[in-house]
Amino acid sequence: MVPAAGSKKRSNPEGNEAPDDCSPSPPLAGEAKAGGGPRGKAKKRSEDDTGPITIEGAMPQKRFYRARAHVNPLSHNDCYEYPKTPKEMDWSVHYPNRPGLKVSIVDVGCGFGGLTVALSPLFPDKGVLGMEIRVKVCEFVRLRVEALRRENPGQYQNVSSLRTNSMLLLPHFLERHQLEKMFFCFPDPHFKAKNHRRRIISVPLLTEYAFYLRPGGLLYMITDVEELHQWHVEKAEAHPCFEAVPRGEAEKDPAVKAMTEVTEEGKKVARMGGDKYWAVFRRIPDEDVPYTIF
Ligand SMILES: C[S@@+](CC[C@H](N)C(=O)[O-])C[C@H]1O[C@@H](n2cnc3c(N)ncnc32)[C@H](O)[C@@H]1O
Repeated sequence: MVPAAGSKKRSNPEGNEAPDDCSPSPPLAGEAKAGGGPRGKAKKRSEDDTGPITIEGAMPQKRFYRARAHVNPLSHNDCYEYPKTPKEMDWSVHYPNRPGLKVSIVDVGCGFGGLTVALSPLFPDKGVLGMEIRVKVCEFVRLRVEALRRENPGQYQNVSSLRTNSMLLLPHFLERHQLEKMFFCFPDPHFKAKNHRRRIISVPLLTEYAFYLRPGGLLYMITDVEELHQWHVEKAEAHPCFEAVPRGEAEKDPAVKAMTEVTEEGKKVARMGGDKYWAVFRRIPDEDVPYTIF
């Protein structure tokens, strides 16, 4: 896949990470700094320490919702609510003014939700859902959607957010062939070889995503890390359920334009003059998959 114009590469975040939109927050006013408390002991702020920073219905400010840059998706598994099966999932909680609407577009690891909310007017008849593992960041997206609904009566009724670990809990929410589009935008690179199993694109997970995507459904992936992009393409090309969408065709897709331009990470990369590498893969119909998977 051809990268877009640009230059810089991201440094290894497990070594020396530059602050970014997914980075730890600076301490809030009155909050103890690391190492600065009595007897030199730091009082660490908890991830779940979300005070009433934003009045319900008001647009949240990102500076109050920054959280730890990375969570380990393999050890973050016991604090979520989820239905036993997707049939028990009540989507009306997410789309209260759109009776019968179910999610069909997911933004996995949506961060602060820039793409999630942009997809809502692009696909007004579809249920759009941002999935995010970090509690404060997910709360930001929830408030952002609430504020957008309030500011734009009748709009943004088809978009919502869900706090979950998408590497583990999707089977509780999604049925076979339920999805039309899955977005993976600037996922955590997990550079070290021993942490590659934490990557959100892998052959086993692609098999799971193929289960949720309907035939013809699309998988979108973008990153500023060239090595990770190669990993994405290699895994998807090797997978029997996916075929690459030709570049010229993908470039005409408004979702690609959104994916490359409106995510918070994507904007940050653009500000820093970095490269963005993206690819789109199509779910092959089951009858064309060379052997039975499901
Ligand atoms: C680098 S940020 C990118 C955010 C957003 N997609 C963007 O482009 O601005 C990666 C996001 O994925 C979230 N994430 C990582 N692992 C996840 C998982 N297993 N399930 C859900 N979200 C996850 C992180 O909390 C983080 O917000």
